Amino acid sequence: MAAASSSSVLAAALLLLAVAACAETKETRMRVFWHDVVSGPNSTVAQVAQAAASNVSATGFGTVLVIDDPLTEGPNLTASTRLLGRAQGMYVSAGKDSLSLLMAMNFVFIDGPYNGSSIAIFGPNPAERAVREMPVVGGTGVFRFAHGYCQARTHWFNAATGDATVEYNIHILHD
Ligand SMILES: *[C@@H]1O[C@H](CO)[C@@H](O)[C@H](O)[C@H]1NC(C)=O
Ligand SMILES: *[C@@H]1O[C@H](CO)[C@@H](O)[C@H](O)[C@H]1NC(C)=O
Ligand SMILES: *[C@@H]1O[C@H](CO)[C@@H](O)[C@H](O)[C@H]1NC(C)=O
Ligand SMILES: *[C@@H]1O[C@H](CO)[C@@H](O)[C@H](O)[C@H]1NC(C)=O
Repeated sequence: MAAASSSSVLAAALLLLAVAACAETKETRMRVFWHDVVSGPNSTVAQVAQAAASNVSATGFGTVLVIDDPLTEGPNLTASTRLLGRAQGMYVSAGKDSLSLLMAMNFVFIDGPYNGSSIAIFGPNPAERAVREMPVVGGTGVFRFAHGYCQARTHWFNAATGDATVEYNIHILHD
């Protein structure tokens, strides 16, 4: 009897722990605007490599660009919008026949409720599509154990310079 009741107490305690652990999972949705500043003296994009034959593909297949792009609350970088963080990492032209970028970047927050935390985004970006979905594969700070996805929509694009503003809607579960 004593053994049975202590094991059922243990089972109940484990169940409580499991419930507590589940209850701790948080859900965050946020929207930021990502600015790829290609032109001008304060460019935030550096091309570091390209394929040996520049005619290898019309999509720039093989090109590697490193970015330190501002992430803002509002869509207009030049208007007074809050700088929430920076998108640091790279994108690679990984599609030979269609424009498809591999995005590998951290959203590093420097202001607002997530200051000091970051999320890691790694996935495909077929940039000409209206909506591109990429996985959020991890995070730090308040976003420890993050997993989820983001959807990117081009808000503004200057074909002459390559400058672009992209809206990122992010939906993550985390500790
Ligand atoms: C570039 O950055 C410098 C230093 O922050 C700033 O003074 C300058 O106005 C910026 N130039 C442009 C074109 O944004
Ligand atoms: C690409 O350019 C190189 C060097 O000019 C040339 O030898 C090669 O035939 C070209 N390839 C194609 C597919 O046009
Ligand atoms: C951003 O705001 C500035 C100043 O208000 C304006 O001149 C510019 O056209 C805006 N840019 C975009 C992309 O909306
Ligand atoms: C963000 O956090 C850093 C480190 O704690 C702090 O120095 C900085 O003042 C914070 N920035 C804002 C805008 O609160």
